[in-house]
Amino acid sequence: MAACKRGALIVLEGVDRAGKTTQCTKLVESFREVGRAAHLLRFPDRTTTIGKLISSYLENKSDLEDHTVHLLFSANRWELVPLMKKKLEEGTTLIIDRYAFSGVAFTSAKPDFSIEWCKAPDVGLPKPDLVLYLRLSPAAAAQRGEFGTERYETSGFQQRVEGRFEQLMDENSVNWQVVDASQSIDEVHDNIKRLSLSALTAAEDRPIAELWR
Ligand code: TMP
Repeated sequence: MAACKRGALIVLEGVDRAGKTTQCTKLVESFREVGRAAHLLRFPDRTTTIGKLISSYLENKSDLEDHTVHLLFSANRWELVPLMKKKLEEGTTLIIDRYAFSGVAFTSAKPDFSIEWCKAPDVGLPKPDLVLYLRLSPAAAAQRGEFGTERYETSGFQQRVEGRFEQLMDENSVNWQVVDASQSIDEVHDNIKRLSLSALTAAEDRPIAELWR
């Protein structure tokens, strides 16, 4: 009997209001429509004990020291790794709204944090087969409405985050694909669906790799 093919690990990243959450939901539906199991995850996962600490910090209800919150975001990914591996090995594709790249981009946008230090706790996480970066100019993002009220939702900080994402994309150890997020929802969806289905075909016979290792 042929070994069961694994699912793909697909991550959507991008600045605020680029449409990540909408696109993740549509992508899961598309996989299911073509008969491939798919499951949506998002980081931070605010439902766990660690996730609740992070959520309270993001909502400005509590303060946490900057290194500490960075490590909590990473721990929040590691606590989901057993579930992620189980699903991938069962053949389910995981579509993930933010991952370690957001972790590095947001913390390293703060003063005195190097990209290298920020990456360290996430080294060895399951490596995405595809990272879709939804690129949107600050002007186009502004047309989509005001920022929310959570921590980090200011234009100055988001611009620094965007610069960090661009730096991370220079690395070719990760399969980054940039998608123009200024297009219509359906056009963006068609692009990411095509890229994602071909990433699944390329990944399904290969073992799950380790990020940044
Ligand atoms: P979201 O739940 O609306 O995506 O927002 C989560 C916020 O947390 C967003 O501002 C990005 C930030 N973040 C980090 O700072 N580090 C991380 O590791 C992740 C996943 C998100």
